[in-house]
Amino acid sequence: MNAKLLTCLPYVNHVDRAEGAVQTRLTKRLGIEHPIISAPMGTAAGGRLAAAVSSAGGLGLIGGGYGDAEWLEREFEAAGHARVGCGFISWSLAQKPQLLDMVLAHEPAAVMLSFGEVAPFGQRVKAVGAMLVCQVQTLAMAREAVAAGADVVVAQGAEAGGHGVERATFTLVPEIADYLSGAAPDTLLVAAGGVADGRGLAAALMLGADGVLVGTRFWASTEALVPPGFHTAAVAADGDSTLRTTVVDIVRRYGWPAAFTARVLKTRFAMDWHGRESALAEPATLEHEEARFANAFKAGYADEACVFAGEAVGLVRDIAPAGEILGRMVREAENLFGKASGMRST
Ligand SMILES: Cc1cc2nc3c(=O)[nH]c(=O)nc-3n(C[C@H](O)[C@H](O)[C@H](O)COP(=O)(O)O)c2cc1C
Repeated sequence: MNAKLLTCLPYVNHVDRAEGAVQTRLTKRLGIEHPIISAPMGTAAGGRLAAAVSSAGGLGLIGGGYGDAEWLEREFEAAGHARVGCGFISWSLAQKPQLLDMVLAHEPAAVMLSFGEVAPFGQRVKAVGAMLVCQVQTLAMAREAVAAGADVVVAQGAEAGGHGVERATFTLVPEIADYLSGAAPDTLLVAAGGVADGRGLAAALMLGADGVLVGTRFWASTEALVPPGFHTAAVAADGDSTLRTTVVDIVRRYGWPAAFTARVLKTRFAMDWHGRESALAEPATLEHEEARFANAFKAGYADEACVFAGEAVGLVRDIAPAGEILGRMVREAENLFGKASGMRST
């Protein structure tokens, strides 16, 4: 341990800056170099992205999304021999539980479950030796994840892109850190929501996390399966340009549990229908909008669709290779930690 750093940061008891690198319990337990996991973003986080993140020293997760077996097989193949994991939307996995065995056959390093019950799947994940990662949005959900045997709890704040709830990363992470340190000290904590650079990584570790899970920033990478039109819209957007809404699920006819909304860019489609959800759900309207949306989503016509992105989109200024994004993040965080320990020693 770096004694200087620890004296200066009494609450950060999991950070070790051996030889300048930021190592934590997460890097040790997962056998990775940097405490960074890429989010399992359905359809965007394919095998190439996951492999690029793992090759750069983090852990890449393939996005199991709503569970398309063919897509998943293809993306595991695209990951080649890289050590990657996979994430599922739990309420959707409950409708296609066979997909878990299919993924476990690929010997993933970790399986992440979000947005639903852990219990039906958790023990099967652990039985094959994969890390059980559970993404939660409230303290109550963190308690449930621990009871279901989570090895890693991901505390996701509402800044995050994609689906989530209401609580902010800045208070959720330290509160869950305090809870885990008493109730389940061996369970690791990862922060998600708003982390896009080294400042976010350093801040998350300061809040008591063992690492970060990054979505939006890796979505804006060359390896992500994202149409160019969406990337262009993201680079042009700032952090004020997102909102949480349900219109993206209404138009795709996904039956998300009521607690969850999705953070998307304020595109014309999102702004046209947000606040007019029942009008969108009218059968004739829905049929028309569903087809229009699906075409626009595939083609990358951002304004005619919804673009999943978090508030961190305001920190995205380029579309870069994932390895480069990860490298920048780590270097920035290391510099910040270096400065912090230096401040104390003088
Ligand atoms: C484009 C996009 C798609 C996402 N899809 C999923 C998903 O299918 N399953 C999931 O568990 N989380 C998904 N998420 C949420 C991430 O797991 C993660 O919580 C979030 O990206 C972290 O916040 P950030 O976007 O600010 O980095 C998605 C996020 C984005 C940006």
